[in-house]
This record gives sequence, C-alpha cells and structure tokens, in this order.
Amino acid sequence: MDAVETPRADKIAQFLVDAAVWAPSVYDTQPWWFGTHGSTVTVHADTERRLNVADPHGREMYISCGAALYTLRLAVRNLGRMPAVRLIADQRRPGLIADVGVGPPQAATGEDRQMYEQVRRRHTHSGGFRPSGLPIGLLQALRTHAYCEQVSLRVVADPRVRIALAALTEAAEQVQRQNPAYVAEVARWAAVSAGVPEETCPRESAHLDADFAGCDFARGQGWGQTGSEQRDATGVVAVLLTEADERDDWLCAGQALQRILLCAAEYDVSAAFHSQALEVPELREFIRTRFCDGAHPQMIMRLGIAHAGVARRSVTELTRAEL
Ligand SMILES: Cc1cc2nc3c(=O)[nH]c(=O)nc-3n(C[C@H](O)[C@H](O)[C@H](O)COP(=O)(O)O)c2cc1C
Repeated sequence: MDAVETPRADKIAQFLVDAAVWAPSVYDTQPWWFGTHGSTVTVHADTERRLNVADPHGREMYISCGAALYTLRLAVRNLGRMPAVRLIADQRRPGLIADVGVGPPQAATGEDRQMYEQVRRRHTHSGGFRPSGLPIGLLQALRTHAYCEQVSLRVVADPRVRIALAALTEAAEQVQRQNPAYVAEVARWAAVSAGVPEETCPRESAHLDADFAGCDFARGQGWGQTGSEQRDATGVVAVLLTEADERDDWLCAGQALQRILLCAAEYDVSAAFHSQALEVPELREFIRTRFCDGAHPQMIMRLGIAHAGVARRSVTELTRAEL
C-alpha cells in the first residue's frame, strides 16, 4: 500500500490518530497503540492493557480496537480520500491489526462529515434515559450501518427477553463481584488516574423497568454521581451479533459498534453498555442459544437520549514511529 509521502504525511497520520483515540473501549482501557509510516497508520492492540480476568481471549480488547479502526477509516473519509485498509493476521505479532492508508480522492458524503463531527461528542452513558423514544427511522439506519460491517443489530422488542437479559446482567455482576481477581482488575482500571472517572458513573444503578445492573466501578466505596443525574427509562435494548467468534469478527463488531454510536450521536442518542453477562462464558453461551438464534452476542446495550463524558490519553503517548 502506498503511503502519501508529502511533508504533510506525518501531520495527516497525527490527525487520523487524534480521531481514533476517541473510540470507546472496554473499561476505558484504550487497549491500542498506533504506528505511523508516512500518512499510513498501523493499528496495534496493546495486549498489556487487556483485561486478563474479564476478557482472557481479548474479545473486548479487539472490539475496542475495531472501534478505533472504524474511526480511522472515517477520519480518512473526512479528508476527502478513500481509506485503504489492510487487515493483518500475524501469529508472531498477535497485537498487529491493520494498516490504514490514505487512498484515492473521493469527496466525503454529508453523512461521513456528520458522523465524523460526532467522534469527540459521543460518549457512553450510565444509568437511565429520558422517557422519550428514539427518532423515527433511526433504528433502521443503525441496523443498516451494522449490516455494512457484517454484523447484525438485534433490537430486543419482547419485554420478557429484556427482563431476562437484565436479570442475567445482574447475575453476572454479582458473580463477578465475588471474584477477587475480577474486583482487583476493576480496581486497577477504575483508579482515578486511569479509568472510569467519578463524574461519568452513577453512585447507584438507576432503577429501570428492565433493571440492568451497572458495573460497580466504585467497588462498594460509594463514589459516583448521585441520582439527580439519572433518568428513569431503560431505552431501547439491542444486541450486536456476529456469525462467527474469531478475532476478525470482534474487529467487525467494534467497527459496527462505533459506526452505530456515531450515527446515533448525530441525533443526541447515546448508549449504555452491559458487558457483564458476556464476560461470564456460561451466561454468554446461554444468551447465544436462547436469545440470539445461535449467533454470537458481542455487545448488549441500551440506546436512549442522555449525555456523559470522559478523558482520553494523549496522542503523543499513543503514537510511535513504525519500524
Ligand atoms: C467492548 C466494550 C465493552 C464495554 N463494556 C462496558 C460495560 O460493561 N459497562 C459500562 O459502563 N461501559 C462499558 N463500556 C464503555 C466504556 O466504559 C467506555 O467506552 C469508556 O469508559 C470510554 O468512555 P466513552 O465511551 O464515553 O468515550 C464498554 C466499551 C466497550 C468498547
């Protein structure tokens, strides 16, 4: 793949990485780093930042990296160029994911630009949503975005299934809280210096009609926002599904996830994630067979109207010259 070798090439790469670091990541681990060669950016999973207890196979790490990869693609489109993406599978370097080059000119569409504008605006929400529903037509648009990445977005319309998923989330949260290794891992990532900041995290789970447990990032210490910020609606419950369950499927799921989130953010719709049940293998298998027709659940989320925000590690810290 030809990198654009102009004096501006390194600036272009920097511009692309500057966007990618705003992708969502599991527990805000930001498990990536970026190599640059001219204007080409190489995406690497930072396996040191994988959650060894909650995510031993790196599924959520690769979903996070997929979200960063989609953001790079979108940033290239915003330059009026086509992204040239080459997925890399190298067993000797399992962290190596893809090269994203700046390909031939093609004007960005209005949709590309609007989605790109959401990259820094989009944030994960915790707690309940406003009772208002989603804009008409948005769910269909989100399904189409997922489909374009070989991923299905299944909206859980049946209230009994919503309640079952909420109960499984609660069960997983309780099981995980009994595991000292898991609690220590959350403690490491929820530390004030590196992880989920207090102002984005409700002190208690909001009490919703389908009661989805939130992660206890405060580990029982009671910090977090009080209920005044909380809304009382569950929002639309949806599951991201893939046909298979390998690294490239996780990368597709991450790209679909970010694509959905950026499209939703245009309409002030944000997502709350509930990964707990998918981090307990028995529960994930139960959800796969009972509620997903055998497809592999990659993310359980609620969509609704709300806002929240967190900080990012700096671009300088995350960028290295590619050897
Ligand atoms: C694969 C994945 C799993 C996640 N799981 C959860 C979760 O279980 N609970 C939660 O509150 N947030 C979860 N998140 C959201 C992250 O905590 C969030 O992206 C991170 O804190 C950065 O915040 P931002 O999305 O507002 O930029 C998850 C994100 C990803 C990509």
